[in-house]
Amino acid sequence: MNEGNARESKVVLAYSGGLDTSVAIRWIQEQYRADVLTLTVDVGQQGELEGALERARRNGAFDTRLIDAKGTFVREFLWPAVQANALYEGVYPLSTALARPLIARTLVEVASASGAGAIAHGCTGKGNDQVRFDVAVHTLGPGLRVIAPVREWNMNRTDEIAYAKTHGIEIRVSPESPYSVDENLWGRSIEGGRLEDPALAAPEEVFDWTGHPDDWPREPEEVTVDFEGGVPVRVNGSALDPVQLVQTMNRLAGAHGVGRIDHIEDRVVGIKSRETYECPGALALLEAHRSLESLVLPRDLLQFKALVDRRFADLVYEGLWFSPLREALCAFVRSTQEVVTGSVTLRLHQGSVRAVGRRSDYSLLAHELATYGTGSRFPQELAVGFIHLYGLPNQLAHARAEAARSARNPEENEPRAARAVLPTPS
Ligand code: ARG
Repeated sequence: MNEGNARESKVVLAYSGGLDTSVAIRWIQEQYRADVLTLTVDVGQQGELEGALERARRNGAFDTRLIDAKGTFVREFLWPAVQANALYEGVYPLSTALARPLIARTLVEVASASGAGAIAHGCTGKGNDQVRFDVAVHTLGPGLRVIAPVREWNMNRTDEIAYAKTHGIEIRVSPESPYSVDENLWGRSIEGGRLEDPALAAPEEVFDWTGHPDDWPREPEEVTVDFEGGVPVRVNGSALDPVQLVQTMNRLAGAHGVGRIDHIEDRVVGIKSRETYECPGALALLEAHRSLESLVLPRDLLQFKALVDRRFADLVYEGLWFSPLREALCAFVRSTQEVVTGSVTLRLHQGSVRAVGRRSDYSLLAHELATYGTGSRFPQELAVGFIHLYGLPNQLAHARAEAARSARNPEENEPRAARAVLPTPS
């Protein structure tokens, strides 16, 4: 296998510090006779990244890089997703999917700065992430070869551990977990183990950011989020930088159990799979944004934007971030957001988040039109004529259908003749 692999003298490996990518360092060296430079992109995953880097060096990495991309992640990827109310299949806020193009772009940048001929990632051949990485790298770094050890080698977890032993590879001694977890500021994705049976409820042990249901406060908590131009800027009145803001929302909403998602998901490669997520901050901010939009955008724009939003979410999921269509959809969305400025009150309680109040200087809700109380200025007398014309197409179609029916069945007991469709003026 892998004949002709000797060409790559240097490979940049997207490295998380987990078992797959630890074993991959040595495997790439052996299979491709290449130096391996590991790249760890900090998108807000928890865990000890510096320790993982030291381990990579001890395991033979020629060089290691750690790049803090949290700010870029929020500003360039998460905020456009908030503006587009991005939820794949209506439920998944795309936490893993949004980070992949940023990691891929950073891989290409590091490869070109270091003169590497290839990049490598630890994705399997069954998921979406390989699509996202490969498509982005082919687009941004067309000369680069993509190596995907896990897709190429025939090792399961036990084989990988055995390979690590025989090759003296230091792996983190963690209690055996059957789950595969991907984490960043926008959420956690948990797969594998018992979760693979969609009939079984996710065991408590898979959750980390949402505490235990016994610890969720009995009383609801209200949190206000202020938006400027469709982007959240303040929480409970305090201005926060984008990264702090997302972290704060994760903490506040997570404490109430908000953000657990149990989804039967349709992957790009045609597989259906059961996916479990914890995305407290994402779901809270998306709820707040959606609610504010409903106050400030007119109906036709809301309806049309929902189509664009949906297309944006599909496209991000499908790994097409670096595409003219994504840029065009974002340009449209941005053009609608100036008025999405105002404040939303969220209520967090026992796993749920709901917008319970919203205000904006750009509100389209005119109290003197909508009120059932005193002082209404809505011209109710105009409603009668409006309703006649509004319903006219249906009235005509119904009358025609009735006329055709009585022509077909002349002996029908009570032939329903076509009636005059317009009211006689009073
Ligand atoms: N199904 C999700 C997605 O395609 C999450 C994938 C998470 N990956 C993982 N190693 N757990 O975006």
